[in-house]
Amino acid sequence: MKHTDIKELFLNGEKFTDKSVTVCGWVRTWRDSKSVSFIELNDGTSLKNIQLIIDKGSLPDNIVKPALVVGASLMVTGKFIVSERNGYEISVTSLEVLGDCPQDYPLQKKHHTLEFLRTIPHLRPRTKYFEAVFGVRNQLSFAIHKYFNDHGYKYVHTPIITGSDCEGAGEMFRVTTQPWNSKAKTEEEYFGGDFFGAKAGLTVSGQLEGEVAAMGLGKIYTFGPTFRAEHSNTTRHAAEFWQIEPEVCFADLKDIIEIAEDFIKFIIKYVVDNCPDEMDYFNERIEKGLKEKLQHVITSEFGKITYTDAVEVLKKSGKEFKYPVEWGSDLQTEHERYLTEEYFKKPVFVTDYPASIKAFYMKQNPDGKTVAATDLLVPGIGEIIGCSERETSLEKLKNAMIVRGMPLESYNEYLDTRKYGSVTHSGFGLGLERILMYITGVQNIRDTLLYPRTVGSL
Ligand code: 4AD
Ligand code: MG
Repeated sequence: MKHTDIKELFLNGEKFTDKSVTVCGWVRTWRDSKSVSFIELNDGTSLKNIQLIIDKGSLPDNIVKPALVVGASLMVTGKFIVSERNGYEISVTSLEVLGDCPQDYPLQKKHHTLEFLRTIPHLRPRTKYFEAVFGVRNQLSFAIHKYFNDHGYKYVHTPIITGSDCEGAGEMFRVTTQPWNSKAKTEEEYFGGDFFGAKAGLTVSGQLEGEVAAMGLGKIYTFGPTFRAEHSNTTRHAAEFWQIEPEVCFADLKDIIEIAEDFIKFIIKYVVDNCPDEMDYFNERIEKGLKEKLQHVITSEFGKITYTDAVEVLKKSGKEFKYPVEWGSDLQTEHERYLTEEYFKKPVFVTDYPASIKAFYMKQNPDGKTVAATDLLVPGIGEIIGCSERETSLEKLKNAMIVRGMPLESYNEYLDTRKYGSVTHSGFGLGLERILMYITGVQNIRDTLLYPRTVGSL
């Protein structure tokens, strides 16, 4: 169907002015007067609707009436004209209803609650809110690829089905083709007959395979779906989320922190520059002061504090936390939010966590208690990045695995990377939905995903 995107019309309005154009889209709203009808049409390419003006004298009623229906899809031709109120409008000369939209269409009103929209995930991309969210998600993804491509990283595709639990937190979804079988006496026997002849699951992180790739390719990143069977029913946890994981050889913790900060600033700036309409919308409708907040993030240095000092800050804060803070315990969201929202008032890297609360692969510090790891915390959300320098010593790595009761034999290939030409290397994982929430002000992770998968809801 030959037609012009509405985005293109707004971008290059002068080129089209007073010419005949054809557009397609869905009716967002319409209104009617004695001699003229108005339709706000949206085709998904632009957050702005194009206003159609229909002179009733020039088009018969039986053509116009079926088009005055919220949700109906149209193909319209008319003269593209400059308008004082809307910038541009189309004075319609011909019109065809592509798809009618009966009265039970759930999006009749202009505003719906996000809770209601979550019950109709198949229709919510037709709302301005979700058009804006998915518009930013798209540009954000592009910015991520651009950053790494511009800096010489190779994009690698790590497996989604895997036998190893990278984070060791026991949150893997199982992948099986086996029917229920009560005859197997042991786990090995049961999974031995399964598709892969072994226990398999959906990856929680591409890191281990990413490290393998980096050990030959130097600098890599992954960008793909990861899965966690976490029972955290919060506004920041999804069972299926997208993660970006760069892995960099010849880089220590200090280097990777610099990379992470530069990267975060770049992708935020890219979105701010390339999604002006969406950012205006979020700034006005979702989070007042959002644009100012992001400008501040781009131009100021992120905070840095060790876990040990952070615990002291929290203890001295005089705040009543639900979970008390003690050295050695994991920071809870309330602690993370105090640090980033009230103490630093900007993004902050908390470094050198106790080894006992972090994953096996992290570089053990000389103090024998902490690891060279960092989480990046941001106001309003908490953790958006988990990061570390990796342990390079084969012996220390094996010991960390033994302490955690991990089966060494399942990680033989990974351990080979430390046996053959081991090098200092570091990496991090950024949750795409978490950074998207931060950039847009969206409060619930369920509103950043096309089809959110969370505990109890598929
Ligand atoms: O801190 P995590 O668990 O780190 C890793 O997976 C490392 N292997 C990363 C690496 O070093 N390559 O997860 C990384 C990030 C978190 O900071 C968070 O942004 C996001 O992934 N994340 C989630 N996002 C949404 N829902 C969940 N359930 C998430 N779990 C983690
Ligand atoms: Mg983490």
